[in-house]
Amino acid sequence: MQYQYIQTECEDNVGIIRLNRPEVVNALNLKLIDELTSEMERMDGDPSIRAILLTGSDKAFAAGADINEMAEEGAISMLWRDQFAVWDRISRISVPIIAAVSGYALGGGCELMMNCDIVIASETARIGQPEINLGVMPGAGGTQRLTKAVGKVKAMEMMLTGDPITAEEALQYGLVNKVLPVEVYYQEALKLAKRISLQAPNAVRLIKQSVLKAQDHRLAEGMEYERNCFYLLFASEDQKEGMKAFIEKRKPKFTGR
Ligand code: CAA
Repeated sequence: MQYQYIQTECEDNVGIIRLNRPEVVNALNLKLIDELTSEMERMDGDPSIRAILLTGSDKAFAAGADINEMAEEGAISMLWRDQFAVWDRISRISVPIIAAVSGYALGGGCELMMNCDIVIASETARIGQPEINLGVMPGAGGTQRLTKAVGKVKAMEMMLTGDPITAEEALQYGLVNKVLPVEVYYQEALKLAKRISLQAPNAVRLIKQSVLKAQDHRLAEGMEYERNCFYLLFASEDQKEGMKAFIEKRKPKFTGR
């Protein structure tokens, strides 16, 4: 598939997507988001792909939604265009998405990062929601996801001042998993994605779904969902293989069946 604003490749069982609009610091226009969502859904439907690695360049993960595309819009055209609805499809991707983030992750870039499941950042990452400086506010989940991730007072500070935080601060607030030198963050993220891609695929998907339930549901509902997923995995060959391998003191070979 030929795309204009993303580059894709596959390494082992990892689908790699690179945002590629360098002339505007990877600003997320409608076409880029459409390409990204379509490709993620294609990868999600391909049984050979067991994790997705999403990245940008060393300079920028993404500098937010495309301001030029929105500057002249009115409330009604924005309402009917409903440009952020397509982002909901990203949160329904069932394989884990690992983000390798360097440089700017601002506005929609930060929101896209927060849609990912694991984030490996470079020391140069600057993460924030600067929409207030444009006279607007986050529209792709920032007020909700950032608040859940970093807590009310930090989220308020970030969104009301528009000031980005450093990678180290993001680590301290649990917004990213790891901070590494810019020379190695991408390779480390790929290594992690490959490691996850070797795990039993059904268990991986159901763990992801269960963890996401913890964000939106009450404990009792989440526990019930988790339990049903746990029982369901006993229908898989990988459960038999995983437990048998443990007993036989060897490494399991998971097939996804
Ligand atoms: N949309 C459109 N164009 C953008 C852009 C964006 N979000 N961010 C940068 N660009 C463009 C610039 O206009 C510039 O274009 P020209 O070369 O034609 O002038 C080019 O990219 C390079 O940008 P800079 O010269 O500004 O590069 P820099 O390295 O000096 O600064 C930056 C980088 C700090 C990211 C700065 O560009 C910036 O602040 N960008 C805007 C960030 C922002 O406000 N994001 C929020 C967008 S709204 C949103 O995301 C809503 C939502 O909730 C989804």
